[in-house]
Amino acid sequence: MDPAILHIQDEGRRFPPPEAFKAKARIKSLAEYHKLYEESIHAPEQFWARQAKELAWMRPWNSVFDWDKETCRFTWFRGGKLNVSSNCLDRHLETQGEKVAILWQGEREEDKRRLTYRELHDEVCRFANVLKKKGVQKGDRVCVYLPMIPEAVIAMLACTRIGAIHSVVFAGFSSAALKDRLDDSKAKVLITADGGRRSGKEFDLKGMADAALTDCQSVEQVIVVQHIKNNAAMKKGRDVYWHDEMRSTHGACPATEMDAEDPLFILYTSGTTGKPKGALHTTAGYLLYTYLTYRYIFDYSDKDIYWCTADVGWVTGHSYIVYGPLANGATVLMFEGVPTYPDNDRFWQIVENYKVSVLYTAPTALRALMRFGDGPVKKHDLSSLRLLGSVGEPINPEAWMWYHTVIGGGRCPIVDTWWQTETGGILISPLPGAMTLKPGCACRPFFGVRPVVYNEEGGLAQRNEGGYLAITHPWPGLMRTVWGNHDRYIETYWDKYKGEYSTGDAARVDENGDIWLMGRVDDVIKVSGHRLGTAEVESALVSHPSVAEAGVVGRPHPIKGQCLYAFVTLKHGIPISEQLKQELIQHVSTTMGPIAKPDFIQFAEGLPKTRSGKIMRRILKAIASGEADVGNTTTLADPSVVEELVKNRVA
Ligand code: PRX
Repeated sequence: MDPAILHIQDEGRRFPPPEAFKAKARIKSLAEYHKLYEESIHAPEQFWARQAKELAWMRPWNSVFDWDKETCRFTWFRGGKLNVSSNCLDRHLETQGEKVAILWQGEREEDKRRLTYRELHDEVCRFANVLKKKGVQKGDRVCVYLPMIPEAVIAMLACTRIGAIHSVVFAGFSSAALKDRLDDSKAKVLITADGGRRSGKEFDLKGMADAALTDCQSVEQVIVVQHIKNNAAMKKGRDVYWHDEMRSTHGACPATEMDAEDPLFILYTSGTTGKPKGALHTTAGYLLYTYLTYRYIFDYSDKDIYWCTADVGWVTGHSYIVYGPLANGATVLMFEGVPTYPDNDRFWQIVENYKVSVLYTAPTALRALMRFGDGPVKKHDLSSLRLLGSVGEPINPEAWMWYHTVIGGGRCPIVDTWWQTETGGILISPLPGAMTLKPGCACRPFFGVRPVVYNEEGGLAQRNEGGYLAITHPWPGLMRTVWGNHDRYIETYWDKYKGEYSTGDAARVDENGDIWLMGRVDDVIKVSGHRLGTAEVESALVSHPSVAEAGVVGRPHPIKGQCLYAFVTLKHGIPISEQLKQELIQHVSTTMGPIAKPDFIQFAEGLPKTRSGKIMRRILKAIASGEADVGNTTTLADPSVVEELVKNRVA
């Protein structure tokens, strides 16, 4: 078996839920969890129908769940009609219209905004009218390329109000990545901003958008939020300002009746082959799943000030900044900046200022902050915190313990939530009032989720034996297809274990039935919590005129989790130089975005390949990580290349 799936962790610490937390929790015991879980597995239709009644429907459904295993198509709540924005907004107006929905903290301390549910509703309705005026209709794609500002949420909800499909592209992505996504989704309108702020610097978002649009066929209109006021160039006839459009529109906009299975959004995620996949999520199932997971995993309480530090450009931002919390009527804090600017206590200052009670962040952020010791944390009163969450990659027990003791003061449970862009919402996580925590362990499946771990031979893995994680039955939040490519959906997720969703992650189930995640089994690398396909980075490198071939692998990194290590073969006659190295790093940064920059480049005469010409990344990975044994090299076309690679490894 692949060494990545070997079980090496041995963690004996246990943290039962504190009595004070348990007393107020929505689910207070393992027995209570079991009862609901069993129902969700043995009577799924009854379970989900009951939960779905908590949402606002315009028309009831005809059938809770239908599944055609042959075509890998399934539906939830077929025939039901509802609207996502009215579930996230209108539904709350009567009971809590004056409650704050969004608290926004800009990167500059003085930049703050707050929107009540009523105000957010009004903004969304007005912007929905702007979109309508621009000709956007039900089913059209609208691309959102914005920094972390409230307009991003307003734009997403406005799309859902009129049935347009949003495709949010992370503002840290470059113009080439944006262009790929615009082309694939054939977006009609692009919503962007003049620029953004990051670590004290301004970045030119509009410039990136313009570059992506130079030969883009589909985009007709660009709506620009004036955020940093940098006098961005506006193209006549194409670009308009958000505030101008909003000024000239009225407030009322009835919510469009959407079918339960109508597309809600596309979100692109890296795959192992070059082209990113557009994960398609649909209306009712996604909404219900994010609503319910937020409610129980974050143990939603009316008084919470909830802060998810992810960007809205990633699925965590979609599900747990926007849809899950707003469907519950929660108060959500949104932060534009980074954890370490202007100082490395920024996160803790925000927790103190806003009296954050629930904090959801990523191991990579925690590791970056841990580096500065406890000093920056101790400067602040974090006593408002009651619950902590982690997402994006396995949290190492050391970071877990720091989170628990130093940030949570030993009193806050940690929900280590495992899920994926594809899954729509959290699949495996502790329920904080019901389960005993183990540092680094994601614990139990959420309601309706049926995980199974297979060994190399396709049989069931033994207790504590690492293997391949699959989910045997669809749940409401699972993506329905890859946008425009259902075959790729089937191949990627359903072919490996016929009729079951293959996650691509390795896991083991321990003696208590708790699940431990062990990382990706394929070539996707997690850099600072962001999933990058090696193939995408390789193709970016190869697009440079001097590069013949590239093999990119992950190498452990103390802060980012993993960083990129690229092996590059230059075209014949091109001399090796430090300058070229820097140029290549820059090239990847401009084509894919700074997140994809390799930390290391090693020039190589040849790469280890199979006879059929496939690069053996397993060997490159071992070399990059400095492992003494690079494993079996007998299947290589030319085993002698390995020696040279080991000799020239960048330490
Ligand atoms: O490998 C798993 C890892 O992140 C992958 C999904 O990445 P993405 O689609 O970008 O979504 C991230 C946010 C949901 C998974 O296949 N992963 C995510 N959360 C965890 C995790 N690995 C271990 N523990 C987690 N809590």
